[in-house]
Amino acid sequence: MAVLVTGGAGYIGSVTVRALLTSGEKVFVLDDLSTGRPETADLLSGAGFIKGDFADRRLLAELFDRESIDAVLHFAALTLVAESVERPLDYFRANVSKTLDLLEAMTSHRIPHFVFSSSAATFGIAEVIPIDEEHPQRPINPYGWSKKAVEDWLPQIRKVGGPAYIGLRYFNAAGASADGLLGEVHSPESHLIPNVLRAALDGSALPIYGTDYPTTDGTCERDFIHVEDLAAAHLLALQALRRGHQSGFYNLGNGQAHSIRHVVETARAVTGRDIKVVESARRPGDPPVLVASSARIKSDLGWLPKREALDLIIADAWRFACAPRR
Ligand SMILES: NC(=O)c1ccc[n+]([C@@H]2O[C@H](COP(=O)([O-])OP(=O)(O)OC[C@H]3O[C@@H](n4cnc5c(N)ncnc54)[C@H](O)[C@@H]3O)[C@@H](O)[C@H]2O)c1
Repeated sequence: MAVLVTGGAGYIGSVTVRALLTSGEKVFVLDDLSTGRPETADLLSGAGFIKGDFADRRLLAELFDRESIDAVLHFAALTLVAESVERPLDYFRANVSKTLDLLEAMTSHRIPHFVFSSSAATFGIAEVIPIDEEHPQRPINPYGWSKKAVEDWLPQIRKVGGPAYIGLRYFNAAGASADGLLGEVHSPESHLIPNVLRAALDGSALPIYGTDYPTTDGTCERDFIHVEDLAAAHLLALQALRRGHQSGFYNLGNGQAHSIRHVVETARAVTGRDIKVVESARRPGDPPVLVASSARIKSDLGWLPKREALDLIIADAWRFACAPRR
């Protein structure tokens, strides 16, 4: 049996590919390298790498016919919220239409298991904290809508012979592999911790968008989950599906709220650097607080985060940020 990982040359996908290889899985990575990096693919030498689009039907048919793939872990997507507001149709095509093409190919080739990268962005503005699986899903940007659309269609496709699925709604993925080789590189980078660490490295000022939120210190609060803990959840989801576990969705975070100011202070302590900040107005579309309840995945799949501490998450991200890169 083998596993196909779309987007395996990206941030979360690459860390998961390595965890899959370590656990003895045979892995194929399908990535068009649109945002993933060739040097990341080179680091995953135990996996078969295929450069291509995850919705390329001919490529998928040939791969599914040739290899005994029983599961697809689907990370590939467009992921930038602000860009999704400017280019909603591109986000619909890339994240929804293409995912339906992939699911169609899986259905016709009877590939039985699908693990989907969903997002806290499907919830929109939180009404209750922590956010559990029963919380209403009202996305506030096209990126969030694109993830919710796939969530909505998965049960419909399952009913007509499509794969059993587990969708994992990540909150803020952060950190890097412990060896400092696999980590977060987006362009533009919209995620907080890499931007804080860039400010630590080059002395630029980090913008803090909004200091008048109804939170402990006026800045937004987020739930950061170590990328290795996310990878572990994917392995559990895969194993559960293979055992015949029912399809469904799980929220995935640490359940701890960290304000933007607290992240900056922790990064100052971890890096020993002065980090300049510049306070700016709120950005449209930023929910004040996003914190997950992960009680369901803990009780159903036995997931337990091992790297919850924010200073550890930042220390791993810092090691990656400081590593020489090609
Ligand atoms: N990073 C987070 O905090 C976070 C939070 C919630 C959900 N997610 C979801 O997790 C997944 C992975 O996110 P990431 O941060 O690792 O992103 P990333 O940009 O680092 O990785 C995405 C990968 O997919 C590849 N890709 C994109 N379109 C493709 C296509 N059509 N065909 C083949 N490959 C393609 C890219 O080249 C890249 O390697 C995404 O689905 C994202 O929406 C991420």
